Amino acid sequence: MNIQLIDKKVFDSKNNLTLKLITSKRLEKAKFKKTLKKAGFKAEQDSLCAMHGKSLLFCGIENHENENIKTIAVTVAKAMKNYDYKSISVDVNKESIQAIIEGFVLGGYEFNNYKSKSKKMKIKNLYLTCENVKELTALFQEAIIIAEATCFTRDLVNTAPDDMYPEIMAKVAKKLARENDLACNILGKRELKREKCNAMLAVGRASRHDSKLIHLAYKPKNAKKIISLVGKGLTYDSGGLSLKPATSMVTMKMDKAGACAVLGIIKAVSELKLDVEVHAFVGAVENMIGGDAYKPDDVLVSRKGDTIEVRNTDAEGRLVLADVLDYAQDKTKPDYLFDFATLTGACMVALGQYTTGVMGHSNRLKHDLSKASNKAGELTASLPFNKHLKKQLKSEIADICNISNKPYGGAITAGLFLDNFIKEENKNKWLHFDIAGSAYTETPWDVNVYGGTGAGVRFMTQFLKNIK
Ligand code: BES
Ligand code: ZN
Ligand code: ZN
Repeated sequence: MNIQLIDKKVFDSKNNLTLKLITSKRLEKAKFKKTLKKAGFKAEQDSLCAMHGKSLLFCGIENHENENIKTIAVTVAKAMKNYDYKSISVDVNKESIQAIIEGFVLGGYEFNNYKSKSKKMKIKNLYLTCENVKELTALFQEAIIIAEATCFTRDLVNTAPDDMYPEIMAKVAKKLARENDLACNILGKRELKREKCNAMLAVGRASRHDSKLIHLAYKPKNAKKIISLVGKGLTYDSGGLSLKPATSMVTMKMDKAGACAVLGIIKAVSELKLDVEVHAFVGAVENMIGGDAYKPDDVLVSRKGDTIEVRNTDAEGRLVLADVLDYAQDKTKPDYLFDFATLTGACMVALGQYTTGVMGHSNRLKHDLSKASNKAGELTASLPFNKHLKKQLKSEIADICNISNKPYGGAITAGLFLDNFIKEENKNKWLHFDIAGSAYTETPWDVNVYGGTGAGVRFMTQFLKNIK
C-alpha cells in the first residue's frame, strides 16, 4: 500500500472511501446522526459503520488519545481487505499521524511469502489529508521509516528456518549494509575460532549450517554517542540434546527475533539519519542435535576466558550472547550497550506474553527506557537483579553454570548469567531485553498480527531519537 500525505484542499476523492473518526459525544451532533443510529452505530471504540452510498466509513473512538487512534486504524486496516475501493483517506494532524500510520502499516501487515494464492488487497493508496503538508512532512517520513523497519524485522522472523539460517542472515545483513551505506563485517567458523568464541561455536556445532557473527555499523559524522546493540540470532532452537518437547519446538524459528530486531533498529536509525553511532552485533547460530552436538556436562571456555558448565543445551542463547557481548565490548567503546534476546520462557511466566523484560544495573537507564517504550507504545517492565539469585548460577566444577540450580526467577538468572560477561566499565551502560513473549504471537493483539511482532524496534528507535 502506498501512503501519501496530501493537502486536503487539492485532494480528489473520486473512487475513494473517506474515514470519519468520531466519538459518541460528537455523534450527537453529526450530520448523519439519524441514519447512523438506525444502523445501530454508537461510535464505541473500534466499531465501524459504512455509508457506501456516500463513500464514508464512520469509525468509533472513545477519545482522541493515541492508543485509541492506533487501534481504530488497525481495525480499519483489517476491514479494508474486503472492500473494493481504490483508495482510502483520513484526516491527520501532528498528534495523530504516527498512530494512524502505525495502525495501518503494522495492523494491516501480512506475511504471504509461503501462500500460493495470496489475496491481493484492492486498496492501493492511503491518503493522509491535512491542512499543512509542510508542517507534517518530517513526522510523516519518520513514522513510515519506523513502521517499515518493524515490518522488515517481522519478515525476517517469519521466514522459515530452512530459508533463514546463519549464512542467509549474513546475506540479509550484507544487503542492508549495501543499501543503507553501513560498514559490514562477517565472521565465519575460521574467524570465530581465531576469536576464541568457543561457547558460541559449541552451540552451533551439530548444525549443517555454520555459525556467523555479523557486525554492522552506522557511523555518521559528528555522532554524539556510541551505541552497541547485540542480538540473539538462533535461526532455530531445537533445544539441542536437552531436546524440547514437540509442542514447545513449534515457533522456535522465532528464536532469531533479537537479531532481527537489531537489524531493524540499525535500518531505522540509518534511514532517519540520527546523530548517533550504532553498531549491530548478531550471533547467528542453529541449535541442533547429532553426533557432533555439545552436551550437558561439557565445560566450555568462553571468549572472555571464564569456563561454563553446560547442564542444559536448551539454555543456549546465553552461551551465544556471552561471546558476542564480549566481542562487542572489545570492538567498541559504547556509551550504551543493549542486548535483545528471546532468552527465557520464564520471562513469559513472569510478565505475560505482551511485555518485554528489562534487566540491568542502572535504575536511571531503566527509567529512561521505560519512558521511551511508553511513548513508542510498546510494553516493558523491569525485572530486578539481586545477589541471592546470582548464587543460583554457581557451578561445582567451572566458573559459572549455564542454568540456575533453582526453578524460580529464571528470567533474572538468565540476565545475571549475561551480566557475568559485562565489563566493569559497562555495567551501568548495559540493559538486557528479554523479548521471548513480546517478539512473536499466534493471536493478534494491539498492532500485532500472527507471527513476528518486531518487538524492540519501536522502543529502541524512540530511545535513540532522544539521545543528547
Ligand atoms: N529460546 C528459548 C526461550 C523461549 C521459550 C523463547 C519460549 C520463546 C518462547 C531458550 O533458548 C530456552 O529454551 N530457554 C530455556 C532455559 C532453561 C533451559 C533454563 C527455557 O526458557 O525453558
Ligand atoms: Zn533454548
Ligand atoms: Zn533459544
